[in-house]
Amino acid sequence: MEKSRNGYLLAIESSCDDSSAAIFKGRQLLSNIISSQLDHRDLGGVVPELASRKHLENIQPVVEQALKKAGIGKSELKAIAYTQGPGLLGSLLVGAGYAKGLALSHQLPLIGIHHMEAHVLAHFIEDPHPRYPFLCLLVSGGHTQLVIMHDAFEMEVVGKTIDDAAGEAFDKTGKILGLPYPAGPEIDRLAQKGKARFKFTTPSVDGLNFSFSGLKTSILYFLRDEKKKNPDFIEQNLTDICASVQKTIVDYLLLQLEKAMEQYGLDRVAIAGGVSANSELRRRVQGLKNIGAEVFILPMKYCVDNAGMIGMAGVFKWEKEMYTTLDAPVFTK
Ligand code: KG4
Ligand code: ZN
Repeated sequence: MEKSRNGYLLAIESSCDDSSAAIFKGRQLLSNIISSQLDHRDLGGVVPELASRKHLENIQPVVEQALKKAGIGKSELKAIAYTQGPGLLGSLLVGAGYAKGLALSHQLPLIGIHHMEAHVLAHFIEDPHPRYPFLCLLVSGGHTQLVIMHDAFEMEVVGKTIDDAAGEAFDKTGKILGLPYPAGPEIDRLAQKGKARFKFTTPSVDGLNFSFSGLKTSILYFLRDEKKKNPDFIEQNLTDICASVQKTIVDYLLLQLEKAMEQYGLDRVAIAGGVSANSELRRRVQGLKNIGAEVFILPMKYCVDNAGMIGMAGVFKWEKEMYTTLDAPVFTK
C-alpha cells in the first residue's frame, strides 16, 4: 500500500444521474469530468434503472477522460475514492463495483465517501476556504440540512427537513408548471425575468428544521384556483410564478440559516449542494456579509454532483489513512 499521500488519487461519483471522475495530486485537483444523463429530462425525474444502465456505459469513458486530462495512466494511481452513499442503489453499485475492481486489480487503498460530507468539503478544493468550525446550509435534490462542521469528518446536523428537500421543492413545483427535470436551474432562469408578486404559505416548523411539502400543496391549490379563472394562467405568468416560488424557498432557507447563526454564535457560513447554484440564494447569502458574516459560496461547477468533491474528501481520508474494505456495502440513506 502507498504510504505517501502525495500521489495520484482517482475519485468516482455515481450516486444519482451523473457519472463523474476526478484526479487529484495531493490536494490539487487536476481534472473533473462530468457526464450528465439528459435521458431523464422528459421523463419527469430520475428513473433508477435507466440511471444505473447509463452509469455502466459512462463510467469507463469518464475515468479515461479524467486520466487523460490529468496527463497520467491508470498504473500511476495510488488511491481510489468513491461515493459509498447516500444515493440510488443501482447507481451507487456501479461506481462502487468499478472502484473496487480497480482497487483490487491495482492493489490500491480504497476510500468510501459520504456524498453529503463531500458536498461540504468541496469548499476546500479552492482557496479561500472556511476555517473550522463553520455553519453550512447543505441543500441538494435529496437533502436539506444545517450542519456545523467541527472538522472534515465531524459534521453536526443541527437542522434538517422533515419531508421534501429544497431541491425537491424546486423540482416538484417545476413539474406542476410543466418544466423539464431537474426544474431548479429552469426556475432560476425564468425567475430572473419575473417579479415575486404571488404569496405562498411559508412552511413553519419549530427550531432549525425545514418542511417543504406544505409549500408544494399551497402552490398546487393556488394554480388550480387561478386556472379555473384563466386556463392560460401558468403560461401568461410563468416568470412571476417562478420568481415567487424561488423567493418563498430562499426566504425560508435564509430564515433558518440566520436563526442557526444566532443560536450557535457562528458567523462563518457556507452553502453547498445543487441548490447552492441558485442565483437568488447566492445573492442573499452574499448579503449576510452586511451583518458581519464571513461567507463562502462555491464556484458553480462544485455545487452540483461532481467527482471533484468526492476526491477532496478522499484526499482528507487518505491523509488520515481512513480506508474502506472491499466488502463494505453501499448505503442509500
Ligand atoms: O447536489 P445535487 O446535484 O444532487 C443531489 O445530491 O441531489 O442537487 C440537485 C438538485 C436538483 O434538485 C436541482 O433542481 C437543484 O439541485 N438545482 C437548483 C439549481 N441548480 C440545481 N435548484 C435551484 N436553482 C438552481 N440554479
Ligand atoms: Zn449531491
